[in-house]
Amino acid sequence: MTLDDAPGAERVTAAGFHELDLRMSRRSWPDPQLRPPERSAIWVDRVCHLIGTDPGGCWVAERGDELLGIVVSFVREKMWLLASYAVVPGAQGLGLGRALLAPALDHGRGSLRAMLNASNDPKAVRRYHEAGFRLYPQMFLRGTPDRSTIPVVEKVREGSAGDVDLMDSIDRQTRGAAHGVDHEILLEQYRLVVSDTTTGQGYAYLDDGVALLAATNRRTAARLMWEAIASGDDLLIGHITPENDWAVEVGLAARLELDQGGYLALRHLKPPKPYLAHGALM
Ligand SMILES: CC(C)(COP(=O)(O)OP(=O)(O)OC[C@H]1O[C@@H](n2cnc3c(N)ncnc32)[C@H](O)[C@@H]1OP(=O)(O)O)[C@@H](O)C(=O)NCCC(=O)NCCS
Repeated sequence: MTLDDAPGAERVTAAGFHELDLRMSRRSWPDPQLRPPERSAIWVDRVCHLIGTDPGGCWVAERGDELLGIVVSFVREKMWLLASYAVVPGAQGLGLGRALLAPALDHGRGSLRAMLNASNDPKAVRRYHEAGFRLYPQMFLRGTPDRSTIPVVEKVREGSAGDVDLMDSIDRQTRGAAHGVDHEILLEQYRLVVSDTTTGQGYAYLDDGVALLAATNRRTAARLMWEAIASGDDLLIGHITPENDWAVEVGLAARLELDQGGYLALRHLKPPKPYLAHGALM
């Protein structure tokens, strides 16, 4: 995949996931050609960042000029990560996904660990299981918080690029590899909040909810999550494995709705905690 493929690749994932959402009867945007433009732009910028930092992990399948499938993977500190993987609906189930995943997995062959967020698509789950991944079901919280439940959030400050070393150190403790250069794109796309006290460190990237959260203890993680809840109205906080029950506790205390969907897929790694993974950058 080259940088020129990124907008087309975005269309492939928009179509692939739209069809999956309809099949699973989940909320989706009404038309695959109409994925909200701001979401498309974020997707393209993130994938350009990944092609730029690790081009060997990104592949496309095409027929003539037409893109039929894409895979975006990357390696950070001996960890292989899968950011995006989709085949257009009309070409699914014919072996293209297997052919695409092979060079991406090969790109990660020197890695000790691997991590990705899997959709509910049974075809995707087959591919990941075959590749040696263990699947951990995930929960998510959504809704409008009851503002009367929100405590005064203390010991949380705005973060900046000056916090990258701190964040990398927290990530090595929680998920076994730093995000490193990925903080460049995360800092562009989200608000960063940090908690750094004598007893615990943590950080969170916030959108309408939590985009990514890591901390050295549950208390710090809960504090950061309360900051996310205090800052939003229509919230979505996802990627909660059972190991992160502190997040369920905070979300239910704020009267958010708990639901489940998708898997955290891991190889040679225990489910990180306290940790809420980013959808694409983990
Ligand atoms: C996941 C995805 C990329 C896989 O690509 P693909 O070309 O469909 O995959 P393949 O044809 O190589 O493999 C599909 C597997 O599922 C099986 N399969 C096909 N249809 C199926 C169905 N309806 N239910 C269950 N399994 C099915 C196939 O037999 C094959 O398994 P096998 O090789 O062990 O026999 C593609 O289906 C897709 O884009 N899905 C929607 C988006 C998505 O969920 N992406 C993954 C993000 S984590």
